[in-house]
Amino acid sequence: MKGIILAGGSGSRLYPITQAISKHLIPIYDKPMIYYPLSVLMLADIREILIISTPQHINFYKMILGDGSKVGLKIIYKIQSEPRGLPDAFIVGEKFIADEKVALILADNVFFGQGFTPVLSEASSLKEGAVIFGYYVKNPEEFGVVEFDKNGKVISLEEKPINPKSNYAIPGLYFCDEDVVDNAKSLEPSPRGEIEITDLLKEYLKKEKLRVQLLGRGFAWLDTGTYDGLLEASNFVGTIQKRQGLYIACIEEIAYNKGYITRQDLQKIADTISNTDYGKYLKKISDE
Ligand code: DAU
Repeated sequence: MKGIILAGGSGSRLYPITQAISKHLIPIYDKPMIYYPLSVLMLADIREILIISTPQHINFYKMILGDGSKVGLKIIYKIQSEPRGLPDAFIVGEKFIADEKVALILADNVFFGQGFTPVLSEASSLKEGAVIFGYYVKNPEEFGVVEFDKNGKVISLEEKPINPKSNYAIPGLYFCDEDVVDNAKSLEPSPRGEIEITDLLKEYLKKEKLRVQLLGRGFAWLDTGTYDGLLEASNFVGTIQKRQGLYIACIEEIAYNKGYITRQDLQKIADTISNTDYGKYLKKISDE
């Protein structure tokens, strides 16, 4: 399975922070936001990754992550010239996807919780159709919303409904089969002028090929789309990291644990940033 991180858009809801920098490079506590979605794809065992961003920002991502080889990945980059909607990621990424299955993650989505790795493994082993997640929130009207019956069968999908049919928001992580590119191409823009991810998912629902996996109460799916959301996500990551001494979304640690890089590779990275807590953490991991 391949992976796409969608890191474009105008970031207009976070002005003036995003006047000159891309939203997904804003730090969440001690690392750029994009580390968090990248770590999710890594935990799903996805190593071939496409990062999509704007013409203005794409080079900053290249500067940070390069070709991915430092963490045992193969990362390539593509420009989305305009924010045409989330499913556009599959159209921009058509050549990269090359008739394989693909996971799309929005670069502003932060996930954390026990048991996430097996959930990701299951989703990434999908044979056909699509897998999405459902997460109980108090403000479903701000998200894509999924309604399902008592057997977990999806009944409806709606994008930011005024009267939501459930409290389950759809986080920005979608696992799809090879049909995704054709499905994305068949979509018409919504009244707000974008092609919508919920419309793409409806194509799978029509064919009864859409599965929803619920993320439980002990799980954190954090919103980074507002000033408060950014602060709360930073505080959350800082609190857990300081309490446990274990890092969230440390891509070098994940690469090392998965055997993508050697102890020596990890030590080398740690040495270059040994004056930071992050570097000290990597050193500690490599010494264990
Ligand atoms: O975060 C989950 C939600 O993401 C889902 O529940 C919704 O169904 C989905 O539509 C989306 O809603 P948002 O309102 O958060 O979408 P937004 O337009 O803010 O875009 C999400 C991210 O994707 C954001 O970081 C910018 C980026 N983006 C967006 C569009 C439309 C792009 O890179 N290109 C685009 O064309």
